[in-house]
Amino acid sequence: DLGDYPHYMLKEIYDQPQAVRNALGGRLLPSEATVRLAGLTELGGFHPSRIKILACGTSWHAGLVGKTYFEELARIPTEVEYASEFRYRNAVIEPDTLVIAMSQSGETADTLAGLRESKRRGATPLGLVNVVGSTIARECGRGIYLRAGVEFGVAATKSFTNQLVTLLMLSIHFGRQRGMSIRQGLELLNALEELPTLMERTLELDSKIHAISEEFADADNFLYIGRALEYPIALEGALKLKEVSYIHAEGLPAAELKHGPIALITPEMPIVVTATQSFIREKVASNVQEIRARGGRIIVIVSEENHEFDRLADHVIAIPTADDLISPILATVPTQFLAYHLAVLRGCDVDQPRNLAKSVTVE
Ligand code: M6R
Repeated sequence: DLGDYPHYMLKEIYDQPQAVRNALGGRLLPSEATVRLAGLTELGGFHPSRIKILACGTSWHAGLVGKTYFEELARIPTEVEYASEFRYRNAVIEPDTLVIAMSQSGETADTLAGLRESKRRGATPLGLVNVVGSTIARECGRGIYLRAGVEFGVAATKSFTNQLVTLLMLSIHFGRQRGMSIRQGLELLNALEELPTLMERTLELDSKIHAISEEFADADNFLYIGRALEYPIALEGALKLKEVSYIHAEGLPAAELKHGPIALITPEMPIVVTATQSFIREKVASNVQEIRARGGRIIVIVSEENHEFDRLADHVIAIPTADDLISPILATVPTQFLAYHLAVLRGCDVDQPRNLAKSVTVE
């Protein structure tokens, strides 16, 4: 039901605080500074020493965030692969590898084929799927549902957010089995609990981002840059824009600009910079200075307590301040609004973009 919203994509952006509440519901266990994920009991005494995430598109971007979570919080070496590429490589799967098949629809043919191949090679599968009872969920035999609710828009929005939240919960689970302190566990649980409220505050930026979009409606290209956890957010922002507005866009690690793509920067090139993580902000600021010097038009997404970019950027989008592991989840919301408003301004069919279908059941 669309209610008063003109499009499903917009409704689903606004659904996110509730979707996150649903993902967390009954799963946080402060008494043990960990999470309780029913699907994991099926894993029994299996303790992965490696994780491989198989996914496509937006789900693959979420997987890149998951890699950092698993390595940072649980010290488990993690690889993220396009399912379509994994399948045709003679991939090495060690017996203690957990393969996470991640898919909103649970029907993506490439991810399903990758999952089947990894099972043949002896991996232990775990599904991170939104659609209950879908093929990937069934064939994994165990998993964690994303609980994003039905997503009608072809552009993944709330399912991406819930993938990040679920990956963070999973890394807290593994982290607590491998030396994460009670204190860090509790800090992360608190941060997760606050997330829906912070997300509601982030949604208040809608009209501001609408106004910014008007200035860029005629752009032919966009670059999105970020570092660390915000590199995948840049990839996702670029994908969302391409998908719904048909504007060409590319996502890059901010520091890679100087290795070639900086040649693209002219006063016609808009650059979206995501810079909410405090530990790396100064480095991003120096990357932004390089862009400024070449005349690029800069939109920066930062935490509201930070003013480092005020003089460097054409537009500053200030989001609520949060832990460095959580702020990239919030930073996704402005990129969703930007893609949405640019698409609507350009007369595109945001819910049914050309050439795309909600689930991709061909390989
Ligand atoms: O259902 P899945 O998560 O497996 O779908 C994977 C991709 O096809 C999907 O994320 C696609 O990239 C989205 N339309 C992006 O918004």
